[in-house]
Amino acid sequence: MVGNTFGRIFRVTTCGESYAGAFRKNPNVPKELYGGLMTIVDGVPPGIKLTSELIQEELDKRRPGKSALDTPRKESDKVFIFSGVMENDITTGAPVGLIIPNEVIEDEHLNKHKSYNEVIRPGQAGYTFFKKYGQFADNIGAGRASGRETAARVAAGAVAKAVLDTMGIDVIAFVTEIHGIKAENITYETAKANYRKNDLNCPDLNKAKEMMDELLKIKAEGDSVGGVVEIIARGVPAGLGEPVFDKLQATLSHALMSIGAIKGIEFGDGFEHAKLKGSESNDIPYYDESSGRVRFKTNRAGGILGGISNGEDIRIRVAVKPTPTISIPQNTVNMYKLENVEVAFKTRNDPSICPRIYPVCEAMVRIALLDALYIAKGYRAVSNNIDPRWDDL
Ligand SMILES: Cc1cc2nc3c(=O)[nH]c(=O)nc-3n(C[C@H](O)[C@H](O)[C@H](O)COP(=O)(O)O)c2cc1C
Repeated sequence: MVGNTFGRIFRVTTCGESYAGAFRKNPNVPKELYGGLMTIVDGVPPGIKLTSELIQEELDKRRPGKSALDTPRKESDKVFIFSGVMENDITTGAPVGLIIPNEVIEDEHLNKHKSYNEVIRPGQAGYTFFKKYGQFADNIGAGRASGRETAARVAAGAVAKAVLDTMGIDVIAFVTEIHGIKAENITYETAKANYRKNDLNCPDLNKAKEMMDELLKIKAEGDSVGGVVEIIARGVPAGLGEPVFDKLQATLSHALMSIGAIKGIEFGDGFEHAKLKGSESNDIPYYDESSGRVRFKTNRAGGILGGISNGEDIRIRVAVKPTPTISIPQNTVNMYKLENVEVAFKTRNDPSICPRIYPVCEAMVRIALLDALYIAKGYRAVSNNIDPRWDDL
């Protein structure tokens, strides 16, 4: 398997699977080291305050088994800082190593997954894993394609957050749609004020109730639904991203589209632009005396022009597909016997991935932005003759 590293200077490498370690039960090995998830974060600056509590706070947003809306799998997602931090909780500049042991490794759960080993789960990565890794694929709980993999990203994103916080760059993600039920237009201020006020993390508190009722209904049916997550990054200086292959929206798309179950992405008004005239779609610039900066009257572009951040909020929306594993019977194929079969999966699943995917979106946007910031600042450091009127970096 290749492609387990993201980023060019601020680089994140992860490993680990849904049930890693479950087969390695050995009385001579501490349980925490049976298996789980690991992250190495390269490019962390020295002198940043980093505690396991700060990382845990982010992990707790994604952790399973918190509410009736998500999977009953109970993982505490406890993180251990393994390297890169001194006893005063300050980073040294060395790679930060993080470990999150898997706790749910009982035979009862393994055997349930094993009983479906030979069949393709519709909508899941199982079929393509059969084609790519054959009989060697780890298909217990979807292996590297499992949502559990994203815990390692969230841990790395918490490290990026610790750095971005020192620069006043804030990234927030929230749910705006479930199964066609939509929140009203949410501003950054509303999203901050109502952040995590309900189990869905939808800042429209009235619509959230409707959405959560729908999720409980769908869960009782053994089915699942999709939705939309919106991400806003505030405080991003103008100048991040490159004009050609490494446009900021290309890097952010790579970051977000690498998360399982995300099927679509829009920046600013996204697909709405297709319906507009130029006079309606253009964001009109003006000189804002109070800040001494050029601002834009609207932000249909979503904070990126020509592949480069323009200093406005970066606004992104992602479409999340319904959780593939459902307990309603579906037709599929037994890959070992090559015969058509019908299966209803009896494992533990979320009725929607949305309540658990928004922290992963925050993490990946933070990682991508910090990496782009390193490159922009490094480039500026060696081309430091730009007129200061135009330099936000
Ligand atoms: C946080 C998170 C949790 C997930 N939980 C589940 C789950 O409980 N059951 C499931 O079948 N898929 C789950 N997935 C989705 C799969 O990872 C993914 O949809 C599947 O492997 C197919 O990949 P694709 O949808 O990107 O093509 C989850 C994904 C994320 C990001």
